[in-house]
Amino acid sequence: MAEETIVAALDIGTTKIEAVVISVDETERAFVLGAGQAPADGLRRGVVVDMDKTVKSIRKAIQDAEMVTGTTIDSVTVGIAGEHIRSINSHGVVAVGRSDNEILAADVARAIEAARTVAIPVDREIIHVIPQTYSVDDQSGIKDPVGMSGVRLEVEAHIVTASITSAKNIYRALERCDLSIDHMVLESLALSRVLLKESDTENGTAVIDIGGDITNLSVFHDGAIRHTAVVSLGSRNVTNDIAIGLRTSVEQAEGMKISHGSALASRVDPEEMILVEGMAGRQAREISCNVLASIIEPRMEEILSLVARELKKAVRPDQLTGGLVLTGGGSLLPYTLELAEQMFDMPVRLGTIDGFDHVPDDLNSNRYAAGLGLALYGATHEPATQSKRGAVGGWLRKIENWISKQF
Ligand SMILES: Nc1ncnc2c1ncn2[C@@H]1O[C@H](COP(=O)(O)OP(=O)(O)OP(=O)(O)O)[C@@H](O)[C@H]1O
Ligand SMILES: [Mg+2]
Repeated sequence: MAEETIVAALDIGTTKIEAVVISVDETERAFVLGAGQAPADGLRRGVVVDMDKTVKSIRKAIQDAEMVTGTTIDSVTVGIAGEHIRSINSHGVVAVGRSDNEILAADVARAIEAARTVAIPVDREIIHVIPQTYSVDDQSGIKDPVGMSGVRLEVEAHIVTASITSAKNIYRALERCDLSIDHMVLESLALSRVLLKESDTENGTAVIDIGGDITNLSVFHDGAIRHTAVVSLGSRNVTNDIAIGLRTSVEQAEGMKISHGSALASRVDPEEMILVEGMAGRQAREISCNVLASIIEPRMEEILSLVARELKKAVRPDQLTGGLVLTGGGSLLPYTLELAEQMFDMPVRLGTIDGFDHVPDDLNSNRYAAGLGLALYGATHEPATQSKRGAVGGWLRKIENWISKQF
C-alpha cells in the first residue's frame, strides 16, 4: 500500500469551527478525506470570549472529523483571522557574508530576520514574515537571490501580526483539546493556496472572503501577498437585517436567506412568494422574494463598498489584472458575483477549489475553502515544532521551497 501522510487543519471562523482531514500520498496527490463541524460558540468575531464553550466546539469538530475519516487527529494547522490582524510592509538589509560575494540561503534568512526586527507593539506577535522581493546592490525586483553575487542584500517583506491575547487563547484552547499546532497560518494565505494559481498572484488578484461577522480582503501581486484588511461586516449582518425587516426569528431569517435570498432584487421574480412564520403568536404571512432581496441587497452593497474602499487604499487597478475572487459562505448567496461585477470595474469570479486530486462534493465549496487551504498549507510546510505527524516526503519539500519563495 502506498505510504500516505494524514494532515488535519482547523478553521476557527466567526460562525463555524471546521476540522478538515486530508491525505497526501507519495505520488504527490492530495485527497480530502472529510471534515467535522461545530458552531463557533464561545467566540465573538474570531476572538475567544468563553474558553469552555470554545473547547467544546473544537472537540466536537475534531471528533466528527475523526469519526467520518477514521483517523486520529493529534495535531493541526490552525487558521488565524479577524479584526485583530494587522499587516505592515517592512524592509531588511544585510551585508553578504561570503568573501566571494555569493549570496547563500543563510544570507536570505538573515535579511528576512532583519525585516522582522521592525518595532511591533508589545501586545502583538508576528505570525508571518513573507518575503516579497529582494534587491542585490542596486538591482531590485529579484525573486530569488540565492546564487547571485553582491555585497548588499535587501528584502521587502510583508509582516502579519496578531494580538497576543487572541493568539494565546487559541493556543490555550487547542492545548486543552490535547492538540498540538503544526502551524498558525493567516487564513488569507491558506485561501490563496487553493483559490489562486501562480499566474493569479503574479498578475495581481484580490480575494474577498465574505464570512459570518467579518469580510477579509487580501491582495496578491508580483508573486506575493501585499495587503490584508478586514471589514467588520459579514453575511450574518444580512441575516439580522432580514430578521428585523420581516419581524421574524434569526433562525428563520437565516433559512430564508439561504433558500430564497438574492443579492440583486432586480433579478428576482416579484411573483415568487415565501412564507414568513409569525413570532409571538402572530400569524404566518406571505411576502414576495423581491421584498426579501430588497432587504439583502443594500447590506451586500455596503459590505462590498467597504471592501472597495480598502482595495483602493491598497492597490492601483492596473496592479490587479487578475481581478477579484469571491469566497466564504457569504459568496454563496445568488447574484453576489453579479453585484460585485456591477460595483467593481474589473473581472470578478467565484472561487474554485484547486490543488486536490479529490474533494468530496459536499466540501467542494467556498464555505470550506479556508479549511482546505489550511490543510494543504500544513501538508506542504514542515511543522514548526516536531509534532506527531510523519515525515514530509521529497516532493512536498519541493513545493515547500517553492512556497517559501512565493510567500
Ligand atoms: N448557501 C448560502 N447562501 C447564502 N449564505 C450562506 C450560504 N451558506 C452559508 N452562508 C452564510 O455564510 C456565512 C458563514 O460564512 P463562513 O462559513 O465563510 O463564515 P466563517 O468562516 O464562520 O466566518 P469568518 O470567515 O467571518 O470568520 C453565514 O452567515 C451563512 O449564513
Ligand atoms: Mg471563514
